[in-house]
This record gives sequence, structure tokens and C-alpha cells, in this order.
Amino acid sequence: MAKFVIAGGRGFLGQALARSLAADGHEVVLLSRQAASADGLIRTVAWDGSTLGPWVAELDGARALVNFTGRSIVCLYTPEHRREIIGSRVDSVRVLEAALAGCGRPPSVWLQASAIGIYGDAGDRVCAESAPEGSGFTADVCRAWEGAFFGATDGPGPRRVALRIGVVLGRAGGALAPLAGLTRWFLGGAAGSGRQYISWVSLADLCAICRWAIDTPSARGRYNATAPGPVTNAAFMRTLRQALHRPWCPPAPAWAVRLAARLLLRVEPEFALAGRRCVPRRLLEEGFRFRDTDLAATLRGLLDQKKV
Ligand SMILES: NC(=O)c1ccc[n+]([C@@H]2O[C@H](COP(=O)([O-])OP(=O)(O)OC[C@H]3O[C@@H](n4cnc5c(N)ncnc54)[C@H](OP(=O)(O)O)[C@@H]3O)[C@@H](O)[C@H]2O)c1
Repeated sequence: MAKFVIAGGRGFLGQALARSLAADGHEVVLLSRQAASADGLIRTVAWDGSTLGPWVAELDGARALVNFTGRSIVCLYTPEHRREIIGSRVDSVRVLEAALAGCGRPPSVWLQASAIGIYGDAGDRVCAESAPEGSGFTADVCRAWEGAFFGATDGPGPRRVALRIGVVLGRAGGALAPLAGLTRWFLGGAAGSGRQYISWVSLADLCAICRWAIDTPSARGRYNATAPGPVTNAAFMRTLRQALHRPWCPPAPAWAVRLAARLLLRVEPEFALAGRRCVPRRLLEEGFRFRDTDLAATLRGLLDQKKV
């Protein structure tokens, strides 16, 4: 049995990956700003995400390091939020880098979260990993994030894999619960033109991708972590309505989405109005097999549990 360290591991993705690893008998250490605690094979160890401390000892002898740290981007991009969003990501990469430099038996692989926001608002252009990076704040965040991660890799060190993660669909967090809530209230229409793409991935597949990347010695570099079938916003909302047995609902005009996002929800409208059509070309070419490729079946599976 091996030991795994997941920085920022008490969030939506980290908890799921930790449970998946612990279910196979592995020891998992979560680095968190919350107080230290333990639950079976999963331990939480305190860090602040930016400075070295006793937590660095946990890296010694670990099989893999995973970094999921990052202040949520679901907010309005005020100057303060922008600083926190970029700072939490870049600082965590830098301090982990510094910790590894002093580690006697460092992990052999470092798996780092990034996001498909790197492609910007890409319309209906298909974005594989070789697609050009986009413009805008989220693309800038991902560039800084990946830049910090790959920037200092001239020496030997862990194999590095950055996952450009899409819209993760799971029960206990992420985008599905709010969208399902709106749809249940008969507000599940498309947003704006509905032509913007949603590149989704199930939480189960995201965990499987992480484990594949850890276990596959040839995996390195940047990977789109999205299911093979991205859909338009209109198609996504139609499928969600069907899964929840709701009738057709008119689309919300872009101006109404902007107003509601900024004034009521206090989030950037781009979450609903921008999109990118990503394909997991490298994962497919290098042998990863997705379990959840059908959106309707995936949504039915998640929503049937009555927890979303
Ligand atoms: N979920 C998605 O659909 C999705 C899509 C694309 C990319 N991603 C990226 O994948 C990563 C994990 O996503 P997630 O959904 O699991 O996010 P999450 O639930 O918000 O968890 C992120 C973790 O980062 C830590 N954190 C937040 N602000 C911090 C700060 N200022 N300084 C240090 N640590 C901070 C928190 O840990 P503590 O509070 O325990 O310290 C939190 O549990 C994130 O970087 C996210 O941007 C997620």
C-alpha cells in the first residue's frame, strides 16, 4: 500500500480522489488550512498553501503528490478576488516545489490541476491539447498556474502531469447541483444563444484519470480531462430537463443572464455564456478508457441518487 499527498484535498475533487485511493487500502494525506484530523486511512495535515512548515515531512516517501489547491473562481472578478484566485494557485505550486527540493525520497509523480479555461471563450472550435491558448482572466490564471508548474523543471524531479479539467459532474459539489436546482424550478432553459459548449467530465472518470496518470509512467505534460462528447449549453440543459422530467423551458436571453449573474448570484456571467469544445485527445490516444461518455446516462445516474 502506498501513501498519497493531496494538497487542497478537502474540496470537491480531493475528497473523491482520497476516498477512491483509501478504498484500495492506500494512506492519504490531505493538506488543508483546516485543523488536523483523521478518518480511517485519510489524514488531514495543516498547511497554509504558501509557506513551508512541518507538513513537508509528509512528502517524504509518498508515491504521488496531487495539487488541487485554488480559491474558487465562482465569484465576481473584483481585484481582490483576482489576486486570491491567482495567488492561491501559483503560491501553492511554488511552495510544493520548494518542499520537494528538500525532500529525501520525493514522490515520483506530481499531478497538478489546471483548467480548460486556458482555451478562453473558444466558440465551436475543437480544442485538443495543441489548441492555442485563449485570452481573458481565466486563460491568464491557467497560464500563470501551468507556467509556475512547468517553469522550473530543468532538473530531475517528479514526472509532471497537468490536467486541464472540464466541468466536473458529481453529487457533492461543482456545477451540477445549482443547475439541477434551477431546472427543478422550471428555470432550466439554455443560457443566451445556447451554442456555447460545455466540456463535462464525470467525477468518477476524473478520479480514474488521476489514477491513470499516476500509474502510467509514460504520462507527462498537459492533458484535457474532459469526456469525449462535449455538448452545447442548449443540449446540456435539454438533457438535464429530461433527466429531471421537466418540460421545455424558454432560453434566458444573454442580457438577463448577465443581470442575474452579477446582481443576484454575484458570479461572472461568463460561467453561463462562455464555453469551449474540448476533446481528451491525449487521454484517448494514450489508452485511457472513459466510463461515462453518455451525458444522459451520466446525469440520470447522478440525479437518481436524489442527493443533487
Ligand atoms: N470542480 C471543477 O469542475 C473544476 C474544473 C476545473 C478546474 N478545477 C480546479 O481543480 C481544483 C480542485 O477543484 P475543486 O472543485 O475540488 O475545488 P474546491 O472544492 O474549491 O477545493 C479547492 C481547495 O483549495 C483550497 N483553497 C481554497 N482557497 C485557498 C487559498 N486561498 N489558499 C490555500 N488553499 C485554498 C481549499 O482547501 P482548504 O480550505 O481545505 O484549505 C479547497 O478545499 C481547483 O484548483 C479548481 O480550480 C475544478
